Amino acid sequence: MCGIVGYIGEKKAKPILINGLLRLEYRGYDSAGIATIEGKEIKVIKNKGRVSELNNINDINNLNGTIGIGHTRWATHGKPSSINSHPHMDNSNNFSVVHNGIIENYADLKEFLKSHKYTFLSETDTEVIPNLIHFYYSTSTESGQTKFLKAVIDACKMLKGSYAIEVLSTYYPDNMIVVRKDSPLVIGKGKSENYISSDIPAILSFTKDFYLLNDLEFAFISRENISFYDENLNKITKEIKNITWNAGDVEKNGYPDFMLKEINEQPKSIRETIGSRLTLNSKVTITDLNLSKKYLESINRIFIVGCGTAMHTGITAKAIFENLCEIPVEVEVASEFRYKNPIINKSTLCLFVTQSGETADTIAALKLAKSKGAKTIAISNVIGSSITREADHTIYTHAGPEIAVASTKAYTSQITLLAILAIYFAEILEKNSNKINELKKDILLLPINVEKILKNTDKIKEFAKKIYKEKDVFFIGRGVDYSVSMEGSLKLKEISYIHSEAYPSGELKHGPIALIENGVTVISVLTNKLLLEKSISNLQEVITRGAKTFIVTNQKLTNDFDEVIQIPETNTLISPILSVVPLQLLAYYISKEKGLDVDKPRNLAKSVTVE
Ligand code: F6R
Repeated sequence: MCGIVGYIGEKKAKPILINGLLRLEYRGYDSAGIATIEGKEIKVIKNKGRVSELNNINDINNLNGTIGIGHTRWATHGKPSSINSHPHMDNSNNFSVVHNGIIENYADLKEFLKSHKYTFLSETDTEVIPNLIHFYYSTSTESGQTKFLKAVIDACKMLKGSYAIEVLSTYYPDNMIVVRKDSPLVIGKGKSENYISSDIPAILSFTKDFYLLNDLEFAFISRENISFYDENLNKITKEIKNITWNAGDVEKNGYPDFMLKEINEQPKSIRETIGSRLTLNSKVTITDLNLSKKYLESINRIFIVGCGTAMHTGITAKAIFENLCEIPVEVEVASEFRYKNPIINKSTLCLFVTQSGETADTIAALKLAKSKGAKTIAISNVIGSSITREADHTIYTHAGPEIAVASTKAYTSQITLLAILAIYFAEILEKNSNKINELKKDILLLPINVEKILKNTDKIKEFAKKIYKEKDVFFIGRGVDYSVSMEGSLKLKEISYIHSEAYPSGELKHGPIALIENGVTVISVLTNKLLLEKSISNLQEVITRGAKTFIVTNQKLTNDFDEVIQIPETNTLISPILSVVPLQLLAYYISKEKGLDVDKPRNLAKSVTVE
């Protein structure tokens, strides 16, 4: 959570910082601020509220500096307020810091600094950082650049927790120091200018050449140079990574919101995720994954771990792996998995699904699995993200940047990739070849089938108009239809603020049906032919009690439902990739009817980099 951005070059820093922060706002939007070096001073402009509101502060137009840092906040320590906004200064006003992460021992550090006569203005954990830097700087025996660098390194040695920080100092008006530990940070290399950001998309319009920092690597940055050091002040070399995403990928390109754009991009993102990995007449190939038959035969259990939408993909993929590979699969929420002492050993394979690759709980869960001897595979969408540096192997979805907080194209790409991975395993294990060919055909047809669904959205829009004022909505389904219902329900609650629950249809009579009364909306996905009649009976039971029904199906139904959205038929195992699309659109249109900010729902941030 929180986004940080930095610029050092020959242009005015202010517009570049504001532009970067606007793109990072999905990481938090409680407050925003920037600091630039103006002659011999650091000038800070910050305020509660959105990034765009910074432009209403008169003084912002007086910022002409060519070095600066910026921050958009998702509040953790200290309520959203001007004083708690970043950047934070030290007591002498010579050091300025922006920070993404949490300093767990900030209370102790505050006491330590208070005992040395430092005072604090804010309630944040961050304010200890510039003061610690000042403390080490003023007691240092070093000189030159090393004095600055060593002070930052010494301060970081005192910090417990997670951080990505950028430091400016009036003593070094042509430099900036940045470092990360368990929070994301990238450096974009330009010509006589360098950019810093929490993620690549925010600065993609300026450069495609990036340095990806590892934990506790310190970058000392000037306009022309970037030098890297470890925490013992040893110089290290780092390679530039060229990123293939286009600047246009991070624009709305005529769509009113990123979410609608990303929903519509799904044919492309699925097609690119399939890429050349899966074709009809040859075996699946996955670059960088070379697992032997002997290894796969030794696995007795697979865990799929993730958070939110990413975890939901695991629930769908469980059935695919169990069906094709005949290996038991357990799906776990990362924040639970990491503290439950899961039974894992070298015969366990653990898959970690994360769009951003930065989710703190998912990364911690991976580290735990690795420490217990399991092989770990990360499924991520972001090249070089933190999880990819921890996992034994990484396989990338090629969904392109996902900007809207609510995940859509990442979900469909993740299930597509997990299905391809399951086929890859099954082919090596020589299992279920009869099922595989049919499944491959249907995977290849997914992009066209999603396109068909996207062409017919009027009925979904109309239904959204009918139900947008509701307080509670229920989703029911069986098997894969239940797994996609969980995702539909999550989408609805996060962007429309309507309370909703997903239940297995068969569970209704064990409690939830007590909540069904006249006028309540029940949404159901019916794609599982074998369970169709049973699911329809459950729907009949809610209709009898007065429910309005919205059905997504690939079957010909003769029953009387309030709205039926017809989707193309596909293999049941992957049907959530199609059936989720009307559910994403329904949540989207309801949110629009309510006049909400679809891309930036309240209290949420795109990357959850703290526990
Ligand atoms: C929901 C949503 C979240 C994320 C979750 C994991 O729309 O976006 O539930 O899926 O925070 O994020 P990643 O995939 O980045 O680990």
